[in-house]
Amino acid sequence: MTPAQNFNEEIFVTEEVLQSSHTYAPSDAFRVTANADESLYAEATDDREGFWAKQAAELTWATPFDTVLDWSGAPTARWFVGGRLNVAYNCVDRHVEAGFGSQVALHWIGEPGDSRDITYAMLKDEVSRAANALLELGLVAGDRVVIQLPMIPEAVISMLACARIGVVHSVVFGGFSPAALRARVDDAAAKVVITSDGQYRRGAPAPMKSNVDEALAEAETVEHVLVVRRVGEPVEMTEGRDLWWHEFVGGQSSEHEAESFDSEHPLFILYTSGTTGKPKGILHTSGGYLTQAAYTHRVVFDVKPDTDVYWCAADVGWITGHTYIVYGPLANRTTQVMYEGTPNTPHEGRHFEIIERLKVSIYYIAPTLIRTFMKWGDHLPKAYDLTSLRLLGSVGEPINPEAWLWYHENIGGGRIPIVDTWWQTETGAIMIAPLPGVAATKPGAAQRALPGISVKVVDEVGAEVAYGESGYLVIDQPWPSMTRGIWGDPDRAQEVYWDRFKEQGYYFAGDGARYDEDGDIWLLGRVDDVMNVSGHRISTIEVESALVSHLAVAEAAVVGASDETTGQAIVAFVILRGDSEAFSDDNDVIVAALMKHVSAEIGPIARPKRILVVPELPKTRSGKIMRRLLRDVAENRTIGDTATLADTTAMRVITESLRSNS
Ligand code: PRX
Repeated sequence: MTPAQNFNEEIFVTEEVLQSSHTYAPSDAFRVTANADESLYAEATDDREGFWAKQAAELTWATPFDTVLDWSGAPTARWFVGGRLNVAYNCVDRHVEAGFGSQVALHWIGEPGDSRDITYAMLKDEVSRAANALLELGLVAGDRVVIQLPMIPEAVISMLACARIGVVHSVVFGGFSPAALRARVDDAAAKVVITSDGQYRRGAPAPMKSNVDEALAEAETVEHVLVVRRVGEPVEMTEGRDLWWHEFVGGQSSEHEAESFDSEHPLFILYTSGTTGKPKGILHTSGGYLTQAAYTHRVVFDVKPDTDVYWCAADVGWITGHTYIVYGPLANRTTQVMYEGTPNTPHEGRHFEIIERLKVSIYYIAPTLIRTFMKWGDHLPKAYDLTSLRLLGSVGEPINPEAWLWYHENIGGGRIPIVDTWWQTETGAIMIAPLPGVAATKPGAAQRALPGISVKVVDEVGAEVAYGESGYLVIDQPWPSMTRGIWGDPDRAQEVYWDRFKEQGYYFAGDGARYDEDGDIWLLGRVDDVMNVSGHRISTIEVESALVSHLAVAEAAVVGASDETTGQAIVAFVILRGDSEAFSDDNDVIVAALMKHVSAEIGPIARPKRILVVPELPKTRSGKIMRRLLRDVAENRTIGDTATLADTTAMRVITESLRSNS
């Protein structure tokens, strides 16, 4: 089913969203010192390309660009054509050269409580050493390196070292399984993998290198594995392939001359789930990406490099970590916090303790964490001094007004702006967000495209909807940090993102949205088969494929059901094979085995919250599973219209069987 067909049944506007109309104006104090003002919108509308050229000029170019945008190969853009720059130089060296070498770039805090302060000068030395190490391993510009590391400084150092020598990095989230890692290594034909012996997870060391070893068994392209020692657990080192970071990188010179690369030189690949089973390697390039990363970080987070302490509590394994821990903040000479662990280790006040201790002024998290804090209780933020905060951000999923208001009151003390930022792996950087100091914010709304960005909410035929109406979110003008395509499959991007509104030339984001009466934008969630679990994108089909790869499963259907904390939760419906009694006659045993199986196939983030064994699945006459009806079951709602089912009794059979099993 195309998103157009399931549009009406997929978009829900909650009462809560509709009712909330109160706005929060910025304080005068914030407004007068804000990095952005209202005039930016007009400036960008009057001369879009001139506006972006001005933002690009904030970076240091080895060779200036001659053309701002070449859109002749649409939908693949070329930005800042003819320009050459080094991304790592822009993020590190130029700040040291400007006399800021002693400024802390990273206040890193380990989960067990250890910490490291890394200045820009130290970062320059470390990145240079790592760059020299990668060169010694024979890497040349354009080669690919896969990085699977916990949230330790070496993750940032590795990414910047790749960027420095024009090598393309592909960071794989630490929670992904060996199979998922292997698929990414193979797809990118990576020559080097950078990992660690293990990672701290909820207070205990968990293995990482052994997962990498499993993933790389017989991997054809990988020549070397660099291993950071983090937890001190014994690991097996493969002779001739594996090298300890502290020995091999530690022994390199800290001198490295950064050469410049074309503005369109590939910077990184990051895999994300789409509507098909196989994650797509989203490609980003250098000049346009860094320009928009730095610009959005400057205006949306209002960062003042001399005074702010900024904390984006994402993982570098996701796009948020790439753009708002590594590239944006470092290009802007930000001092930031990097935290290794989970928010409740060693205790549930951990984040607030860090904010108090390091006097964090800008804090950027996902709504799922806000809802988790709500569950843990108001007393926790109250127990700490959070008055250093002056700006809060939200990303990854629609923020419900209740969570927005709690965040505003309990973490922001009712006095500071919240920026709800909408964007995607594919957009590379923030696209829709209120500008702090300019907008009167609305709980639950991302509100307005940033200056220089143009979006619309349209109906099924691509016509803009009226204020007060819902539709599809599209981006109608190219933007500098837009993906340059899908790695290894150049034609697929056209099909995935641009075919839906081909005639109009719109990029279709996959999200539903709504204009309110003022024309402000409210995001309504995905309208395709992509789930959003704790701000992470997982496709229903990916989980279904994992389930049917288990011998006991004949068929599977997966839905994202609303969940109070995680936004959506994965609920799977499975039909077991006729002979599955051979495995067990107890559904609980099979369900437990299937949960484990999905974790092993994809990673714990894809583990279903519930697996329901059913005798049938509801299908249309063309054989398409009607997830809408399954979502009704998963969310304990009255079952909707079943008229289009091939077998109209299917839902009754399913509900009766679930009732008799419970
Ligand atoms: O559905 C939207 C949701 O997350 C999707 C993008 O996921 P990913 O590429 O993993 O990037 C997440 C971090 C940028 C979008 O299609 N999304 C992201 N931010 C918001 C959001 N939904 C509503 N409001 C947001 N602020």
